[in-house]
Amino acid sequence: MKGLILAGGLGSRLRPITYTSAKQLVPVANKPILFYGIEAMAGAGIKEIGIVVGDTRADIEAAVGDGSRWNVEVTYLPQDQPLGLAHCVLIARDFLGDDDFVMYLGDNLLEQDLRRFVDGFEAARRRAATPSLDDQAPQPPSAQILLARVPDPHRFGVAELDGDRVVRLVEKPSDPPSDLALVGVYLFDPHIHDAVRAIEPSARGELEITDAIQWLIDHGHRVLHTVLEGWWIDTGKLTPLLDANRLVLDTIEPRIAGAVDAGSRVEGRVVIEEGAEIVRSTVRGPAVIGARTRIVDSFVGPYTSIDRDCEIVHSELDHSVVLERSRIEGITRLVDSLVGRDVELVRGDAKPRATRVMLGDHSRLHLP
Ligand code: G1P
Repeated sequence: MKGLILAGGLGSRLRPITYTSAKQLVPVANKPILFYGIEAMAGAGIKEIGIVVGDTRADIEAAVGDGSRWNVEVTYLPQDQPLGLAHCVLIARDFLGDDDFVMYLGDNLLEQDLRRFVDGFEAARRRAATPSLDDQAPQPPSAQILLARVPDPHRFGVAELDGDRVVRLVEKPSDPPSDLALVGVYLFDPHIHDAVRAIEPSARGELEITDAIQWLIDHGHRVLHTVLEGWWIDTGKLTPLLDANRLVLDTIEPRIAGAVDAGSRVEGRVVIEEGAEIVRSTVRGPAVIGARTRIVDSFVGPYTSIDRDCEIVHSELDHSVVLERSRIEGITRLVDSLVGRDVELVRGDAKPRATRVMLGDHSRLHLP
C-alpha cells in the first residue's frame, strides 16, 4: 500500500496567507496541516508517500524534506496546473505502479485513525481472495470511500446509498441526494487508473475523482464506504481552520519547556515550547506557545496557537492562530483571527489617534 498526498491547488480561500505559502503548510496547533496527513499515513504503516505539488513545491519540499523524520520515503510529483484530483492520479501513475494506495487531500484533517480504514480495505480484499467453502467468493473491492454527514453537502462530493451500496456520487450538487459528503481520504486498487483515463473534465474544468469513482461503479466495480466517526475538517477557509485548531488543541499533551515567571499564570492544557518566555501574563489553555515566543503583560485565552519567534506585548487574544515572527502590541482584544508570518499589529499612543495599515491583497480587517 502506497500513499498519495495532494498538496497542489491555489488556496484562494485563505488569501492573503496563501500568496506567500502553501495552504497545506498553515499550522494547526503550531504544526503544518500537511504533517498530520503524513503522520496518519506513517501510523497506518505506509512507507512510500508521493506528494503532488504545484506552485508551492519549494515551500513544501523545504518543510517536509525526504520524509525520514517520519520514517517514510517521500517522492515529489509536480503538477503543472491544478487540473483536478483525478488528474493527480494520472500524473502519479509511475510512482503508484500496480500498488493499492490511500489518497489524502493535504488540507483535510480528521480525528479518526487511518489505520482502521486501511486495515478494513485490506481485510475485505483478502476475504475476496480466499473464499471459504460455504461462502461465495465476494468480488474484491476496487475502492473504499469515507463519508461524513454534513449540514451543507452542496459544498462537497455527495454519495447516494441504496441500503449498504454506493450507487451514485455527484460533485457539488445543487440538489444533494443525501447529507453524506465525500471526505478527502480514498483507498484505491489499480483499476482507478483506467477510470481517471476514461473520464472527461467537469463543468469547473477539472478531472474529478468523484467522477472517476462513479466510473468504477458504472463498470461493475465494488466500492465500499465507511461513515466517519469523529470529526473531519476541510481546512481551506478561515472558520474551518480555527475549528480545526480548537479540536486539535483539545487533545494536546500539556508541557512546559519554556520559562514562566513568578508573576504569570498558566492554566489548563498548555504547551510552552523551549525558549519561550511568559512574563507577567496569563495563558489559559488549551493553547500552544511556540519556541522563543515572548508573551509580556498579556492574556492568551483558550484555543490560541502562537507560533515560534513571536512577541505578544500588552495584548489580549483568544481563539486565534498567529504564525511565526509576528508582533502584536497594545491590542485588546483579538479574537477569531488568523495572523500570518512577520506581521506587525501594534496600537501606539502617538497623536493623532488614527489607524495606519499596510494590508496585503485580500486582507480582512474588522475594527470595532
Ligand atoms: C474536494 C472533492 C470533494 C470532496 C472535498 C473534501 O473538493 O472534489 O468531492 O468532498 O474535496 O474536502 P474541493 O476541495 O476540490 O472543492
